[in-house]
Amino acid sequence: MKKQTLPTIFAADQSPHWTSQHDGIWSRRGADLDAVPTLSILTTLWDQPRWLEAYHLYDDQGSELFEEICELPEYYLTRTENSILEAQAKNIIAAAAVECIVELGAGYSKKTIHLLTEQLRQRGHCLFAPIDVSAAGLIASQAAVRRDFPQIEFHGIHARYDAGFAAVDKNLPTLFVFLGSTIGNFNQTDFPRFFRALAEAMGPNDYLLLGADRVKDKNILQPAYNDSRGITAAFILNVFQNINRLLGGNFAREKMRYHSWFNPEWQQIEMYAVAKENQTIRFPSAKAEFIWQRDERILVEISRKFEANRLQEQLSFIGLQPVAHYSDPQDWFSVLLLRKQAHR
Ligand SMILES: C[S@@+](CC[C@H](N)C(=O)[O-])C[C@H]1O[C@@H](n2cnc3c(N)ncnc32)[C@H](O)[C@@H]1O
Repeated sequence: MKKQTLPTIFAADQSPHWTSQHDGIWSRRGADLDAVPTLSILTTLWDQPRWLEAYHLYDDQGSELFEEICELPEYYLTRTENSILEAQAKNIIAAAAVECIVELGAGYSKKTIHLLTEQLRQRGHCLFAPIDVSAAGLIASQAAVRRDFPQIEFHGIHARYDAGFAAVDKNLPTLFVFLGSTIGNFNQTDFPRFFRALAEAMGPNDYLLLGADRVKDKNILQPAYNDSRGITAAFILNVFQNINRLLGGNFAREKMRYHSWFNPEWQQIEMYAVAKENQTIRFPSAKAEFIWQRDERILVEISRKFEANRLQEQLSFIGLQPVAHYSDPQDWFSVLLLRKQAHR
């Protein structure tokens, strides 16, 4: 096998673990990104109430549908966060003196362009390492970066967040970027677990830039997750195509409908698939089946909404200190710059 030299973004001890199948895109040697999902799907579908982990949404079709959602008039999140990044990239990069930008759950990295442009302008060089479970997003973002910013050193990491960020060299001053309010998809167990692991993986000169959608009127929130063209419904229900593909299941699109609402107590949008009729869901390869009762809901995704001060305090308990808080004129969305606390 041809020897591959691991780029400098990886810690020295990571060399045996990563390999590049597609030029410039790295994945963990022997990691089967589909094996763990099978276990996750079976356990959460057999839970009460039934639910799914959000990353199953992002097969190639799901990633494309999410890009369409980002363009919808009702989905204010992307354009609001983009406007904040466009206006503040200069200040963000000036405050975070780093050599590398690592983006978690990068998707197509369209908004990150503002940060990359500023990093090049202010420092003259830029290492960029997007991490994503979706290969489609990484390949598209690599093509865009190579076309528009040939000076940028691009290293895509095809992995789940935790495997990706734990592999980054702690001695390389890095800005970790986590946009799109993707943190809203984490439940109350996953949220602290994720940030503790990230803070642990960060080096002493590292920063985190975090996009978080704010609590607001339900008349603005709800249409963003139930658009008039039905793209969000298609995105959410597409997860069952992915499950059928992964597990050989028999979920049928015509036997389910989409339902979403804003739960004010939990301050979260909840997105469900609802059975239109009693049906037996079978996974022959796992020798497993269950009866999905008419009107029974499967929770496919949540999108939690945040109060900026409370979120900053929570993160400071985990060892991530606030540096700056950027927002839009309507205070709809927050972009937080945080720094790893020096001594803990
Ligand atoms: C809500 S989208 C956000 C995309 C982009 N950052 C944005 O702001 O538009 C979430 C992204 O995270 C990726 N993702 C979801 N779960 C992941 C996981 N556990 N590890 C790595 N990537 C994940 C998805 O493939 C998708 O590209």
